Amino acid sequence: MSVRYIDSKKTFLLQTRNSAYQMKISEYGYLLHLYYGERLEDEDLGYLIQMQDRGFSPNPNEAGNDRTFSLDVLPQEFSSDGSCDYRLSSIEVKNGDGSYAFVGKVVRHEIYAGKYTLAGLPSLRPSGQDTVDTLEIWLQDEATQLTAVLSYCVFEEKDVITRTVRVVNQSPETIYLNRLMSMTMDFMDSDYDFIHLDGRHTMEREFHRDPLHYGIQTIGSFRGASSHQHNPFAVLCEHQANEDYGRCYGFSFVYSGNFVCKVEKDQYDQMRIIMGIHPKHFSYQLKPGESFAAPEVVLAYSGKGLTHLTHLYHNIYRNNLCQSPYVKEARPILINSWEAAYFDFDEKKILDIAREAVDMGVEMLVLDDGWFGNRNDDSAALGDWDVNTEKLPRGLTGLSEEIHAMGLKFGLWIEPEMVSENSELYRRHPDWCLQMPRRQPSRGRYQLVLDLSRSDVRDYIVTSINEVLDSTKIEYVKWDMNRFITDAWSIIAEKEKQGEIYHRYILGLYDIMDRIILTHPEILFCGCSGGGGRFDPGMLYYQPQIWCSDNTDAVCRLKIQYGTTFVYPVSALESHVSVCPNHQTGRTVPIKTRGIAAMDGILGYELDSTCLTKAEKEICREQIGRYRKYYALITEGDYYRLTNPYEFAEYVAWEHVSQDKKEALLSLVLTERESNDAQRYVKAKGLIPQMHYRVEGMEGTFSGQLLMSAGLPVPSSLLQYEAVQYEIRAV
Ligand code: DGJ
Repeated sequence: MSVRYIDSKKTFLLQTRNSAYQMKISEYGYLLHLYYGERLEDEDLGYLIQMQDRGFSPNPNEAGNDRTFSLDVLPQEFSSDGSCDYRLSSIEVKNGDGSYAFVGKVVRHEIYAGKYTLAGLPSLRPSGQDTVDTLEIWLQDEATQLTAVLSYCVFEEKDVITRTVRVVNQSPETIYLNRLMSMTMDFMDSDYDFIHLDGRHTMEREFHRDPLHYGIQTIGSFRGASSHQHNPFAVLCEHQANEDYGRCYGFSFVYSGNFVCKVEKDQYDQMRIIMGIHPKHFSYQLKPGESFAAPEVVLAYSGKGLTHLTHLYHNIYRNNLCQSPYVKEARPILINSWEAAYFDFDEKKILDIAREAVDMGVEMLVLDDGWFGNRNDDSAALGDWDVNTEKLPRGLTGLSEEIHAMGLKFGLWIEPEMVSENSELYRRHPDWCLQMPRRQPSRGRYQLVLDLSRSDVRDYIVTSINEVLDSTKIEYVKWDMNRFITDAWSIIAEKEKQGEIYHRYILGLYDIMDRIILTHPEILFCGCSGGGGRFDPGMLYYQPQIWCSDNTDAVCRLKIQYGTTFVYPVSALESHVSVCPNHQTGRTVPIKTRGIAAMDGILGYELDSTCLTKAEKEICREQIGRYRKYYALITEGDYYRLTNPYEFAEYVAWEHVSQDKKEALLSLVLTERESNDAQRYVKAKGLIPQMHYRVEGMEGTFSGQLLMSAGLPVPSSLLQYEAVQYEIRAV
C-alpha cells in the first residue's frame, strides 16, 4: 500500500513512485509535517525537528513548563489558529461562544484503497491501472468538538498526491467557518523561488519567478473566477533549479472561483505554503452536524527540475481529470466566426466563411457570439437563448444543416451565466442577478451576473441551454464568461449566509455544468472567459480544452503558451491562427509562423476565410495536414520548453517528444533579428542519446546525444518572426 501508519513511531508515510511524504503525531497529539521530497523508506524522520526554547513563541498549556514546544515553530500539517501559532493559518472559525480558536489534535485516522469523493466539486479520478490509496486524519478541537478531516490520496504510479480538508461541526453550536485552506505545507528550510503565472486580459499566465523573502508572498483571485490575473498554480523550487535540475514542488488548485496561495518565510528561515478558497468575504455557517468540504489541491514533486514537474501534471491532467470522451479523441480543426465577423454577420456570411474553410481542410464551423435575441453588439440579449431570425432566417437548424451538408461539423457559442439588462430575461426577472440591497449592481461589459446560488435560476439556465443544444445537430460548444463577479449577495439567502455566495456560485456553476455538459458527452465543450480568465483544473474537469487567450498575436501567444504549459497539457490549449495585422497588437507575422505557434495547442482558425489569398489558403491546408500528422505527438507526447522567452529574446523554441522517444517535433520562432547576426543553435531534449535520428530537411543522421549536446543550427535565412519546424525521427 502506498499509505502506511507506523504505530510504534506514530508516523504516517505516503509513497509515490519517486516521492515520499511523512507526518508524525506529536506527544500532545498535534500533527507535525516531517518531509515531502525524494522517495525514501525511512520510517521516522522525527530527528529533523530540533526542539529549542524560542523567545516570544508561546507554548500550549499541556506542554507544562517545556518552553521548547511551540506551535509557532513546529512544522505542522494543519495549523491551529488563535493559539500559539502566529504564522499563516489553515483555518479560522468563529465559535458559538464568540471565540476564534481552533486547536486540532489527532483523534483517529483511516487508510483505505481508492479515493475519497468530493460531492459537488471537480477532482481527479483514478483511471486505468492506477493504484490509489487514501489516508484520512481527524483533527478535533477538544474544547469545541469541531473536527477537521484531512484527506490525502496517493496516485502512486502518477507520482502525485491530492489533498483536501472537510470540516465537520460536531459541536452543539452553530459556528462560522471564515477560512479553510485545502492545503498547508511547512518546510524546515526556505531557500526557494516562488513561481507563479500572472497576467491580465489578453496577456494571461505570464511566467514569474521570485526568490522568497521574509514575510508573505501572495497570489490569488477575489474576482469570483480563477482569473486572468493569477492562475491557481504555484511552484516552489530551489534557487538553482532549472528545467532539467533541482527540487521543485507543484501546487495546483482544482477550483474555478476565488483562491489564494500564500508563502511565508518566517523568522527561523522556515517556510509555510497555504492554498485554498480566498477567505475574503468568505464565511460559511455550519449548524450542528453540518460539514464543509474544501476543493482539492494536486501536489507533485520533481527532484529533477521543472520539465519533469510539467510532465507529471500533464500526465495526470490528461488522464485523470476530464470526463469528456473527447479527451482522448482527435479534436476537430475549427474556424471560429469571432475575429472574422464579430457581431456583423448573417447566414450568407457564415456559409461563405464555411465554404472557403472546407477548401482549406477545416473540419468545423463555430458560430461565436451574436446569434441570439437582439444581440447586435455586446449590450443586449444575454439570457435570451432564442435564435435571431433576422440574421439566421432558417434558424440554427437551417444553418447547421447547410454546414453539415458541406461536410463540416457545427459549433456554437454560449454565455449561460450572464444576463443583459436589455433582455427579455432581465425584464421578467430583475431579481435573478447578484445584487446588494440599497445598491445598484455594477456592470461589466454591460452585463450582470446571474445568481447561480439559486436553484430556480440554475433550472432556467439548464432548460434553456439544453433546449438549444437539443434543437439541432451541434458538435461543439464554447462556454464563455465575460465579466467577473461583484455584488456577491443573493436576494434569497439569509443574512448569515451571504458570506457563502461566492462559493455557492461556483457550486452552482458546477451543478449546471453537470446538467448541461455531462448530459451531452457527444458535444465537445471548450471553456472560455474572455480568453483565459478561467483557465483552471476545475474547468478542465468538464471541458477538455479552453480558449487560451483573446490575444491571437502569435508572438504574444508564445509567452502565454510558455507559462500555461508549466501545468496544463498542450491538449487543453485552444489556439487559433488569425489575420494580420493582428487585431489586438497590430503586429504582422507570416501565416506559417502563426500556424506553428497555434500548433502548440489545439489548432484552429479565427479569420474571414473569404479574404485569404490563394497562397495563404495553400499554407493553411499544409498546416492542417501537418497538424493532423503530428496530432498524437503534440497532444500526448512529452513537452519540452527549450527556451525561456523572459530570459532569452532571440528565439522561442519548444519540442514534443513521443513516449518511446523515437519521434519528436521541434518548433522555433525567431523573435528578434539583427543584421549579420551571430549563428545560433537550438538543442533538442528528451531523445535517446545512442539512437540515430533523421532531421527533416537535413542530410544524414544524427545521434540523439549530438542533437541534445550540439544541437541544430538555426537557419541564418530566417527573418524576424519567421519560424521553422523539424520532424526528428529515429532511423
Ligand atoms: C470573449 C471570447 O474570449 C471571444 O473569443 C469571443 O467569444 C467573445 N467573448 C464574444 O463575445
